[in-house]
Amino acid sequence: MAAFDPEKEIPRHIAIIMDGNGRWAKDRGKPRREGHRVGAASVEAALETCGEIGVEYLTLYAFSAENWKRPETEITALMGLMTHFLKEKTPKLMANNIRLQVIGQIDRLPESNRAALEKTIAKTVNNDGLTLVVALSYGSREEIVEATRKLMEKAIDGEVDPGKLDNELFAQHLDTASIPDPDLLIRTSGEFRISNFLLWQISYAEIVITNTFWPDFRRQHLLDAIGEYQSRQRRFGGI
Ligand code: FPP
Repeated sequence: MAAFDPEKEIPRHIAIIMDGNGRWAKDRGKPRREGHRVGAASVEAALETCGEIGVEYLTLYAFSAENWKRPETEITALMGLMTHFLKEKTPKLMANNIRLQVIGQIDRLPESNRAALEKTIAKTVNNDGLTLVVALSYGSREEIVEATRKLMEKAIDGEVDPGKLDNELFAQHLDTASIPDPDLLIRTSGEFRISNFLLWQISYAEIVITNTFWPDFRRQHLLDAIGEYQSRQRRFGGI
């Protein structure tokens, strides 16, 4: 794997499918929530590293629309962990000039989570360093269907001419409207799947799969993934 070079292009937007928390815990004879707890420290490490090297957007797949199928105890632990993270780390987000955004069906989240999220989003809205985008109750197909619904309603109301629909107008109706497409998609834990994550947005992203479980994924693993990205030639369909 090619080494990270701070002089070479830094991906503007990195998206991560954080996977392997459960297996990390199982390997240690611990409950799954312990994997998520240690995974939150990996989130912090990723934020620090991205801020330091000048990444502009970091999108983390924290809870998928399908994750509602998990046992209630695990869902409660994850939601509690995220609320705790927000409450405890908002001063650090402020100190590091990090702005928080969320994508996904936020109205499905418990009230306490939504309140914590809204508070941190409002507090960090004017920060102009790294943008942390957390995908919560997020599903890419759901997002695409919702964008289509909005466009159809606008067409019925005469606000949008169907003949003028193009990629750009469509993308403006996604949750990620204000966010550039990811340059680099990382998935941890050695799984070769996209799992309903940013299907539209990763059209030209470079994909790096690492065997490391998310709770072990720290600064050097992220720099290694960026080094791999820097060694690729992106052609965007050209030659
Ligand atoms: C996938 O591992 C991980 C998740 C579904 C949750 C990720 C959440 C965190 C790391 C908590 C902190 C997040 C923030 C944004 C503060 P898995 O449970 O699917 O693992 P497995 O595939 O080994 O079972």
